[in-house]
Amino acid sequence: MANLIFEKSDSLLSFESYQNADGFSALKKALKMKPEEIIKEITDSKLVGRGGAAFPVGRKMSFVANEDSDEKYIICNADEGEPGTFKDRELLKRNPMKIIESVIIAAYAIGATKGYLYVRGEYTNIKKIIQQGLEDTRKNGYLGDNILDSGFNFDIEYRSGIGAYICGEETALIESIEGRTGDPRHKPPFTAEVGLFGKPTLVHNVETLANLLPIFNLGSDLYKSYGTPNSTGSKLFSVSGNVVNKGVYEVAFGTSLKDLIYQHCGGVPNNLQIKFVQIGGSSGIVLPGFLLDIDLSYETFQKLGAGLGSGAIFVADQSVCVLDFLYSTARFFRHESCGKCTPCREGNRHISILLDNFRKGKGKPGDIETLIRTCTVMQEASFCGLGQSAPRPILSILKYFKSELMSHLKGKCLTGVCPMEEGGNHLEY
Ligand SMILES: Cc1cc2nc3c(=O)[nH]c(=O)nc-3n(C[C@H](O)[C@H](O)[C@H](O)COP(=O)(O)O)c2cc1C
Ligand code: SF4
Repeated sequence: MANLIFEKSDSLLSFESYQNADGFSALKKALKMKPEEIIKEITDSKLVGRGGAAFPVGRKMSFVANEDSDEKYIICNADEGEPGTFKDRELLKRNPMKIIESVIIAAYAIGATKGYLYVRGEYTNIKKIIQQGLEDTRKNGYLGDNILDSGFNFDIEYRSGIGAYICGEETALIESIEGRTGDPRHKPPFTAEVGLFGKPTLVHNVETLANLLPIFNLGSDLYKSYGTPNSTGSKLFSVSGNVVNKGVYEVAFGTSLKDLIYQHCGGVPNNLQIKFVQIGGSSGIVLPGFLLDIDLSYETFQKLGAGLGSGAIFVADQSVCVLDFLYSTARFFRHESCGKCTPCREGNRHISILLDNFRKGKGKPGDIETLIRTCTVMQEASFCGLGQSAPRPILSILKYFKSELMSHLKGKCLTGVCPMEEGGNHLEY
């Protein structure tokens, strides 16, 4: 399949090079259309958000477009704090102008008066390129008042995150732009109605917005012919861990996970067997090596009770200890929990203590049951997606690798990775 988002020519860092390569042609086309026609084209494409929740983009745009307000905002979410996720960085690094053009099109469609590009704070190496891109776009009349004599006024401001994973959650991100601590807000009201500065706001992931250009350039019918009936187009996957070629890959939805790993990423170093793969980032499900022959599509993952999340794929060979892996994930969530609600704040703390005890061979009878109970409470009672989804890898490891986890309670780490302590409670389970 030809790529829809990544192109070979994607090293168009400057405004001039982008314009010379027919850049902004989709925007010129869009500005001649009525906003509702643009939203219809996007709705027809069946594009869904790539930031994790997979919500239909056309529907979200209509919600904001239909709000009656003197001010509306659009936010491009480039916080990308999920470990192992680096696709948005690649999009912004290779061709920032594409993202700027996409944001302007979406802004015109919903009647936004101002946009924010909220970029992960650690991406210092691309900050200057994007800021220069915004300045040049403004100078050339594609941002600011009366864009290309269309009567549309709109500008974009660059904002840096400061290293908090929770600020990728859209309401926490909004709090952060407003100058407060990035704690999530209660929903409803949804951001489409009451968002940034209390005004209707459209929040989209970088990759979601990048899809607007192929939809405009190809038309929604051709766009839809890529992928599967309910997962149209392509998806970027950030692949890391035990693969020969780590990196960001664009594949059509419906490609099998096995093909992605063995054909595109060159397989596992030293031809070792895959023990497990985590899909969707740190809160993604974990699948054992024998289950790799599945389609990468929303419908397939829905059947597994999961999603594709941010598109991060972590591959682990036989040398990886499932407990060691879980422990590092648990420490991440403990560190990143904002602390606003008890199930997540205390649950993540409790889980990392339990898992650390397992690693040291100090597990106690009933710990596994406590772990499961804590996970269930977190899933059901946490205030936002962070606490609700943090237990997912633990529960899937318990489903497929319970005996390996239990061996630690008997004082044995099968891979020899865990620091079993002398004198721990080595139980006969
Ligand atoms: C803890 C947490 C972190 C998130 N981080 C990101 C992020 O870095 N980038 C992103 O686009 N969405 C992130 N999201 C999802 C956003 O809240 C929101 O759903 C998304 O930006 C909407 O964009 P989309 O419709 O294009 O998917 C996160 C959600 C949660 C719960
Ligand atoms: S679930 Fe976690 S991150 Fe979300 S509000 Fe509660 S404490 Fe904060």
